[in-house]
Amino acid sequence: MCGSYPKKDWQHRLVVMRNCIKSAKRMLTQQAMLTGEIKPKRASVKLGLLVTRATRGVLPDKAMLKLKSSAEQLRISADPNLMEQAFRELATNAVKAMKERIIDLSVSASIRNSEAVIYVRDNGPGIPWEHRERVFEPYVSFGEPWGGLGLTTVRRIMEAHGGSISLGKSKSGAKFIIRIPLKGNKK
Ligand SMILES: Nc1ncnc2c1ncn2[C@@H]1O[C@H](COP(=O)(O)OP(=O)(O)O)[C@@H](O)[C@H]1O
Ligand SMILES: [Mg+2]
Repeated sequence: MCGSYPKKDWQHRLVVMRNCIKSAKRMLTQQAMLTGEIKPKRASVKLGLLVTRATRGVLPDKAMLKLKSSAEQLRISADPNLMEQAFRELATNAVKAMKERIIDLSVSASIRNSEAVIYVRDNGPGIPWEHRERVFEPYVSFGEPWGGLGLTTVRRIMEAHGGSISLGKSKSGAKFIIRIPLKGNKK
């Protein structure tokens, strides 16, 4: 879940412990999000900054984060902590799906009908189209037996902002489409 103790030095143990605490915190937050009401504390935030922060420490060194200028400069009205968590879940999933290959995560955006439309793509194996709704259901995981709350959490966060997330059709890799109204909670 958060690492093992192959080395005996205390520094390495500290890193493993820190990862354990992070994982536990994440699981607690996911559980809370599943049952409790989410009340976003909105601020005007740059999407580029959110994504950069969310992927820090998640993407391996060799990974490529392609932040298209359309996404980098886009400002949305959103809760920075919640949004960061949502993008962290998406990046974590992409990393897990990649296994040995070098990950290529790209984020682009456009504005349509007073909504920010954000595309998050990776170069992994993708998600079978027939699972496009199931993957957002709680405890549906094709990986970890105790997992399956990541995409549920992301969907709950987007909906709390009056937005949505769905799987997009893609020839290769996974493609998520996020819609966030540009102003206020309601569309
Ligand atoms: N980027 C992705 N590439 C391939 N499969 C993915 C990706 N994101 C999610 N999935 C699939 O969706 C499932 C559900 O994801 P999630 O809700 O985050 O749960 P978990 O990561 O705990 O399995 C994953 O088990 C995985 O099979
Ligand atoms: Mg996940």
